[in-house]
Amino acid sequence: FSKFLTDRFDRHHTYLRISLTEKCNLRCTYCMPAEGVDLTPSHKLLSFEEIIRIARLFVSQGVNKIRLTGGEPTVRSDIINLVGELGKLKSQGLQTLAITSNGIALKRKLPRLAENGLSSLNISLDTLDPFKFELITRRKGTLDEIILRHTDSRLLIRQNISGFERVMESIEQAISLGIKPVKVNCVVMRGVNDQEVVDFVELTRTMAIDVRFIEYMPFDGNKWNEKKFVPYKELLDNIRNKYHNVTKLFDDSNDTSKAYHIPEFVGRFGFITSMSDHFCGSCNRLRITADGNLKVCLFGNAEVNLRDLLRENIPDQQLLDIIGAAVKNKKKQHAGSHMYHRPLVFNQLISSPFGYTH
Ligand code: GTP
Ligand code: 5AD
Ligand code: SF4
Repeated sequence: FSKFLTDRFDRHHTYLRISLTEKCNLRCTYCMPAEGVDLTPSHKLLSFEEIIRIARLFVSQGVNKIRLTGGEPTVRSDIINLVGELGKLKSQGLQTLAITSNGIALKRKLPRLAENGLSSLNISLDTLDPFKFELITRRKGTLDEIILRHTDSRLLIRQNISGFERVMESIEQAISLGIKPVKVNCVVMRGVNDQEVVDFVELTRTMAIDVRFIEYMPFDGNKWNEKKFVPYKELLDNIRNKYHNVTKLFDDSNDTSKAYHIPEFVGRFGFITSMSDHFCGSCNRLRITADGNLKVCLFGNAEVNLRDLLRENIPDQQLLDIIGAAVKNKKKQHAGSHMYHRPLVFNQLISSPFGYTH
């Protein structure tokens, strides 16, 4: 393992999450204010070449998994070529090239992403109800124009496709293209979608997906409160009430989720328990924000500006020294984690200049 990417708690960082954009085509209530967020001017965002240079450097230091995130990564117009170029790092030690997407504008891009080396995909979907989908994401379905060609006339059909349908189609497309695994991320909020958890588990009867129920996390301005937070144990109890043969599966040491399944079902489900049972001890992640800052923890504000260093043509070795120093500063765990008792006290927010940096 690279000494630069190993921290004081002997955590080896082999997983890099690169945010490609701050923009998003949704406005999920738990992530962003309705009006969106202040965007960094585009010349301050990492360019294609800068992303590749950073990725190559991290892979040379033992990073074997890269996940492209956002905002919504598919909003970035060069995503297909980026995946293609990053895919080439597979000959240099990269094993997994993944994307986390909301699935809205993904379906048509999927075949080329898969061809270019995309290995796995996480898609966010918080409800199976098209109407509720619009409430949670604050976006109406968009009008699609379908032109049917006849021999000598064209027939234009306007069709309203709901956001929910778009996401479902992306999930189905990913499965049929053989992308594996396809994970479905569901942020659970009490009184909003907690009653749907069993329906999501039911999906795994026939769909080859990993549904992950995510504990709702607090950050600046996302209106988090304890009443909306549902600890995973409560969800697991509800699922066990309906299905009597829920089985625990083995988790890899760096997994964020606790995996389960129901024996005859093709898919699986799990819980990402950032709040009630954090996994900081086995964290192997580093993040690059869209504007080129290195973030060593999702929670916490310490960021190191790599973009300006790249633009000053800093040599790799110096860049590594700076990255190494930031990694050595990584905290043992996020501040709220050891305080999980009632009343829930959580004194650290995920801080991000705009909603969520996936
Ligand atoms: P895998 O690579 O499939 O393990 O993905 P992932 O679960 O790490 O990533 P994804 O982008 O699908 O994020 C799903 C959820 O994981 C997010 O909502 C967060 O709740 C949680 N998560 C991701 N990375 C971190 C992290 O570094 N720290 C914490 N506490 N939670 C994280
Ligand atoms: N709490 C938990 N998960 C969140 N996500 C976005 N905001 C939050 C939050 N406040 C999820 C998205 C996406 C994943 C990367 O992070 O739904 O699936
Ligand atoms: Fe967009 Fe993801 Fe935030 Fe929803 S959670 S607004 S999909 S960036």
